[in-house]
Amino acid sequence: MRKYIIAGNWKMNKLPSETYDFVKEIAKVTEGATCEVVCCTPYVCLTEAVKAAEGTHVKIGAENLHFEDKGAFTGEVSADMLKDIKVDYVIIGHSERRQYFAETDETVNKKTIKALEKGLIPIVCVGESLEEREAGITMDLIAIQIKKAFANIEAEDAKKVVIAYEPIWAIGTGKTATAEQAEEVCKGIREILAELYCEKCAEEFVIQYGGSMNDQNAAELLAKPNIDGGLIGGASLVAEKFAPIVKAAK
Ligand code: 13P
Repeated sequence: MRKYIIAGNWKMNKLPSETYDFVKEIAKVTEGATCEVVCCTPYVCLTEAVKAAEGTHVKIGAENLHFEDKGAFTGEVSADMLKDIKVDYVIIGHSERRQYFAETDETVNKKTIKALEKGLIPIVCVGESLEEREAGITMDLIAIQIKKAFANIEAEDAKKVVIAYEPIWAIGTGKTATAEQAEEVCKGIREILAELYCEKCAEEFVIQYGGSMNDQNAAELLAKPNIDGGLIGGASLVAEKFAPIVKAAK
């Protein structure tokens, strides 16, 4: 049995001074959750988030990291730095980073390898644009993204990676993929993983859906056999909207 993981991606929202109270609120409204609950916050909020999550069921994640250990990389943050402040998860290759910050399948691979080496749980994002979907190349594109992300990663390590399927056209648009569309791609991702590793290994991967997931559509999406959680943007910023999504993951 795979464990559901519901992770909030705050993106560039909330202030460090708001973080402690908000994470405490998330812990309170999701008390008794049967799934893993994660808040991924901006770097500058992480210390407060970790402090607030201590002694609760909530885990904390970063939204990015650099693939080098240390050195002259002005403005970057390493895996060791995240581990040092007791961060557990890290989002890698979000479409916004691919689009605006030149993230590529190669950097996604390097970052995933580094995160695993340092004991962080990577949440690796993949997804197609509207043009790619309309051109009928969604699964081809996802296959390339997955294969490149997992290059040179052995099965034992690979299984620790959470995959988030986030169709770009559904992010922040209010236009969710239907549960059938999301399931089709998540199932396809599991088939690619079975090909890369083995059938049994593929069954162990947690695959999330992300893109305008909310309290209204979460239950239907999460009921699908290959959708094991969600990566939530907008709805993770309001405790009353995030809590029902967590509740739906059972
Ligand atoms: P929204 O839930 O705001 O569409 O964002 C999804 C997302 O990008 C999570 O990483």
